[in-house]
Amino acid sequence: MKLALAPMEGLIDEHMRAFLTRDRAFDHCVTEFLRISDQLLPKRVFQRICPEHRNDWKTPSGTPVHLQLLGSDPLLMAQNARRGALLGAPVIDVNFGCPSKTVNSNRGGSVLLQDPQEIYDILIAMRQAIPPHVPLTAKMRLGYEDKSLALDNALAMEAAGIDALCIHARTKVEGYKPPAHWQWIAKIKEQVKIPVTANGEIWTLEDYKKCQQVSGCDDIMLGRGAVASPNLALQIKSLAAGKEIKIGDWHTRLHDMLQMIRETIDCGNSKFAAGRIKQWLVYLQRGYPEASPFFQRAKRVKTSLQMIELLEQEIADFNGHPT
Ligand SMILES: Cc1cc2nc3c(=O)[nH]c(=O)nc-3n(C[C@H](O)[C@H](O)[C@H](O)COP(=O)(O)O)c2cc1C
Repeated sequence: MKLALAPMEGLIDEHMRAFLTRDRAFDHCVTEFLRISDQLLPKRVFQRICPEHRNDWKTPSGTPVHLQLLGSDPLLMAQNARRGALLGAPVIDVNFGCPSKTVNSNRGGSVLLQDPQEIYDILIAMRQAIPPHVPLTAKMRLGYEDKSLALDNALAMEAAGIDALCIHARTKVEGYKPPAHWQWIAKIKEQVKIPVTANGEIWTLEDYKKCQQVSGCDDIMLGRGAVASPNLALQIKSLAAGKEIKIGDWHTRLHDMLQMIRETIDCGNSKFAAGRIKQWLVYLQRGYPEASPFFQRAKRVKTSLQMIELLEQEIADFNGHPT
């Protein structure tokens, strides 16, 4: 059973990847998407999207980071995939799920699910351009407006030679609204031979068990659930090993946030460090009631230093030693 940490543009960057993979429960993670529109991108752009390239494309705990590309021009996608592979990316992944209006209006992401032939043309060009030992994978939604082409798209991807497929079990129109249609993953999985990873709406151990049962997939990708409950992957892996572990309490999460913001600042990214904590708090509210009142205070914070002070204050209060 393999667990993957989902790509999440604007949220799961190298700092969040380092944090979420530190207990080694994930088998791999994926970069935020790199948009390919009109050129062969310079090396520095690949290196910026995956600062872990300095560590052989692995997070500090040794978890491989796959490179995700988004675009539709077969030649450009092929050239950029080749460059990524030659720079050391262990796997090239292609995004066929992004619902953003801007991205879709430039024929990237989920809009391509309206045309299986176009998907085939992109992937076959990429497969031919990257060295044979570098796997090519794809991440798709069930469709754009409806699910009528879900199977055709998956078959087109398989025919083009991808090595594995991850399915976010919703259409573009369904956005991020529950439920995720895991039974559709099972339908696709029955028809393809490549490994299939199930994704969408897994927030708890119970969701994981249900998804595995309904989708028939052993391999699972966690997105928002991993951010909301940073122990979820370890809980899942422990369950598979017959052990039970508890999720960390609010105090643990406060220390996590403090550690994360300090590391982000140390890496010279203090400009957006406070914003990241606010985004994280939005998800933490799901599992931690204490996160809501704290978020109300945190959202007024403007600088990363103020955020550190607020976190330290909250930890002191929690410890019963108000300053
Ligand atoms: C803020 C945000 C950013 C995302 N960015 C990406 C991305 O860059 N590439 C991608 O393939 N999917 C992206 N996704 C989709 C997630 O990878 C995942 O498929 C989706 O959130 C469903 O899984 P979940 O219910 O476990 O969160 C993003 C989702 C969110 C909420």
